[in-house]
Amino acid sequence: MSFLEVRDLSLDIGNFELNGIGLKAEKEDYLALIGPTGSGKSLLLETIIGFYRPEKGRIILEGKDITDLPPDMRHISIVYQDHMLFPHMDVFKNIAYALRKKLRDKKQIETEVKQISEVLGIRELMHRKPATLSGGEKQRATLARSLVVRPKLLLLDEPFSALDARTKERIREMLKKAIREYSTTVLHVTHDFEDVWALANRVVVIKKGEVMQAGDLESIFRRPSPDFVAEFLGTNVLKGKVKTIEGKLAVIEAGNMRIYSSDPAEPGEEVTVSIRPEEVILARETVESSARNILRGRISGIFKKEHVVVVNVEIGGKEIKTVITPTSCEMLGLEPGKGIYAVFKASNAKIIR
Ligand SMILES: Nc1ncnc2c1ncn2[C@@H]1O[C@H](COP(=O)(O)OP(=O)(O)OP(=O)(O)O)[C@@H](O)[C@H]1O
Ligand SMILES: [Mg+2]
Repeated sequence: MSFLEVRDLSLDIGNFELNGIGLKAEKEDYLALIGPTGSGKSLLLETIIGFYRPEKGRIILEGKDITDLPPDMRHISIVYQDHMLFPHMDVFKNIAYALRKKLRDKKQIETEVKQISEVLGIRELMHRKPATLSGGEKQRATLARSLVVRPKLLLLDEPFSALDARTKERIREMLKKAIREYSTTVLHVTHDFEDVWALANRVVVIKKGEVMQAGDLESIFRRPSPDFVAEFLGTNVLKGKVKTIEGKLAVIEAGNMRIYSSDPAEPGEEVTVSIRPEEVILARETVESSARNILRGRISGIFKKEHVVVVNVEIGGKEIKTVITPTSCEMLGLEPGKGIYAVFKASNAKIIR
């Protein structure tokens, strides 16, 4: 039995339902829960913590059925985007508050608060009121308050979405240290794939109240189930047919494109190939490269994002999306309409079925 098991959970709140949700986590797993807005991510967390009563299904935590327990008996903590600190209490009192129900000894409470504050880098803020703190400091205090009671399960509902990129990065590192030290199992709802890459070891994708795919990072991002998950994750998905096998590589024809993949396949097989946009390199000329796929195309779109540039390349009537740095975009002198080579390894062309 897994440390956390959500079994066939259904909840009907009138205009929306969670439908037969199943998920599992081992102790100290870090699960990222992703999906479009309105897909039921927050509702799922709030059902797991016990704010909603499911019509059907069970929630098992550390071998115990907690489905009918009140929220405060479940040993689960939750952190939201907006901090929920008590405004009239300083940081120390906020963190110690939940602990007071668990521990009587003042010294012991102090030791525990000190320990978590050190890990999250907020020792200096103990006697400040929440209103005087920055967004990042407030979220660290909130995390400290949730972790100090050593919950069996920590639920995070977009806790970093109001913070700037630099602050997010720092808090992720501190959170990582904290959950390692406290051996916490985490279920983290996020829209930010950076959170997923930096923190999670497993991913659950939900859509309209149903689990679409669950697995480790590699299987979700590199081998997304075709259609919805692949599209949601921005993975390139191309349908084609295996022409032949050359050495150990499958040669796949997708439109006018010829793609080499190192995944096992049979000649004649209809396949779908997935390629992560970050794994495609752009070059102005054919390059000496160990990469087997060097495809000539034309730039069909350039989209500047916060830290990256998304470049679409049209190759033989199909489009491949790539993600490059602003520096390489400039160095390559990319412009819509220009000819370009898209280069990627056969090992990065994954066959999904
Ligand atoms: N208390 C409620 N009463 C009625 N409908 C609700 C309630 N809470 C949520 N919903 C509806 O249930 C659906 C799922 O909501 P939920 O908040 O779980 O989505 P979400 O995946 O967390 O979205 P987001 O990414 O925007 O936070 C939405 O259509 C929402 O309007
Ligand atoms: Mg939500």
